[in-house]
Amino acid sequence: MIDIKEYYGLISPRPTVCISTMSPKGTANLGPYSFVSPVSFDPPVIGVSVGKGKDTILNARQTGDFVVIPLTKSWMKEGIRAEISLGRDQSEFEEIGLKRRLSKKVKSPGVMEAPVNIECEYWDEIRVGDHIWLLGKVVHISAEEGAIHNGRLNIEELGSVCHVKGEEFCISECTTTIERD
Ligand SMILES: Cc1cc2nc3c(=O)[nH]c(=O)nc-3n(C[C@H](O)[C@H](O)[C@H](O)COP(=O)(O)O)c2cc1C
Repeated sequence: MIDIKEYYGLISPRPTVCISTMSPKGTANLGPYSFVSPVSFDPPVIGVSVGKGKDTILNARQTGDFVVIPLTKSWMKEGIRAEISLGRDQSEFEEIGLKRRLSKKVKSPGVMEAPVNIECEYWDEIRVGDHIWLLGKVVHISAEEGAIHNGRLNIEELGSVCHVKGEEFCISECTTTIERD
């Protein structure tokens, strides 16, 4: 059997992203997140569930934006290492050796090594138990050549990294077609 507190292991695997933010003093922050989902087509809004007090929510609230960066095979080890807890004036980018990518519409940087960077403006937040559901309106998408296939992530080429639980991950690299009426 499974304890109800472990329910999230059944919503699995979950596509995983890194979220980049900028502190008011200009320190770039990065962390991996798997409680993440698109929540509206129009306007285009992404939701991510962030534990209270984490740098990601403090920065997004104070500086007003963040970048959602889908985790793919080529930089998955670095992206997952961004979980390390650093002081608010220390950057995971420098600590891990990932390069910042200047964003087009927001202050938070993207990740140079990542094929896709989704720029979001802070939209709203909702307290949900011990987490905050952070909502961001998508304002710009940067995708490198070949990163998009049929209007979606080119998972066959890039491999979409998904979290299962603990140190278990899945890498999605193929699709199947199921007819819809
Ligand atoms: C694969 C993976 C997925 C994670 N998903 C979440 C999540 O959805 N929400 C959350 O609050 N923390 C999540 N974490 C933990 C955060 O990444 C970690 O607490 C990190 O230090 C937060 O960074 P920050 O304080 O810079 O925002 C996850 C960690 C890993 C490795």
